[in-house]
Amino acid sequence: MSPDELGDGTRVVHAVQGGPGDPFGAQPVFASAFHLGGQDTYARSGNPTWRSLETALGSLEGGECVVFPSGMAAISTLLRTVLSTGDTLVLPSDGYFLSRKFVSEMDVRVVEAPTAGPYPSFDGVKLVLLETPSNPGLDICDIAELAARAHEAGALLAVDNTTATPLGQRPLELGADVVVASDTKAVAGHSDVLFGHVTAASPELATRLRDARTLSGAIPGPFETWLVLRGLGTLDLRLERQARNAAALYEALSGKVSGLRWPGAEQDPAYLLAAQQMRRFNGVLTFELSDAAAVEAFIEKSRFVSAATSFGGLHSTADRRAQWGDPVPEGLVRFSAGCEDTRDLVADVSHALGLD
Ligand SMILES: Cc1ncc(COP(=O)(O)O)c(C=O)c1O
Repeated sequence: MSPDELGDGTRVVHAVQGGPGDPFGAQPVFASAFHLGGQDTYARSGNPTWRSLETALGSLEGGECVVFPSGMAAISTLLRTVLSTGDTLVLPSDGYFLSRKFVSEMDVRVVEAPTAGPYPSFDGVKLVLLETPSNPGLDICDIAELAARAHEAGALLAVDNTTATPLGQRPLELGADVVVASDTKAVAGHSDVLFGHVTAASPELATRLRDARTLSGAIPGPFETWLVLRGLGTLDLRLERQARNAAALYEALSGKVSGLRWPGAEQDPAYLLAAQQMRRFNGVLTFELSDAAAVEAFIEKSRFVSAATSFGGLHSTADRRAQWGDPVPEGLVRFSAGCEDTRDLVADVSHALGLD
């Protein structure tokens, strides 16, 4: 059976599993130096724990993976590696805000475009960075179409795949050159580690990224890498529950709160495109309450929803994005459905919003 015929549960469990005689899951190797003569020399340039995770993520995404100590480390290394002074970058105006802040301090020309488009001409552009579904708006763009346009203009196309996860979307198969992601979110999944990775279709670009990591010295620790490996093995199970919870919440909140978005719902404006290019959906939805006080009251009244500025974890969380400077309404909530029982979570959220 080819890996593509296997289900997602089998793929993630198998991806993090050792072979005969190995421990069941790869273990963290803390060594800084290795006896010369083998694959490893000095842990800043490579080590067995990174290799286990890079092999696992690379096999799920269909490219060569390079791990980083956070999503921002992955994104900033990609941007510094690909872009030179005076180059032009196209970036989402509604994506992760620190990507925009990082490039505003680089000596490059930045053209912003909303995720749902319209996109400018890519003539003269060096790199197009997409984020789909975008965070926090959950808009979607057509990766295959934009990759074709970018390649016609001689540009590289990267996708921030944080919200989708490697199980939810495989951008390289859709024509993207690079995937970047914060694994702090659903991939690690337990809100206990910061992590990121880049997966490149081209081994040459992966080598340049690896060299940049070695030179910067900003590297992930083996323990953190191992936590991500451990989390990855249950990604399928967690996504399944989170998506089921998001679908049930969408149904319960439909017509009762404004601005409700979840790309997995047939009524969502992005559904058709999402269903076409995503392999499965996840637990992140957004909706709007009247103002900041209403969001605070909702979280206060809820038993299971905590205020937190992350998503994709075991626990349900809500984040009022305007407090971080995102250009969104004051009462917009990015809600991350956790792995609680669906019935309990829907009852709690409905009660906290005064819908019961
Ligand atoms: C879409 C997206 N990309 C990148 C990042 C940055 O990742 P990290 O916090 O792991 O540095 C985040 C963090 O929220 C994110 O949501």
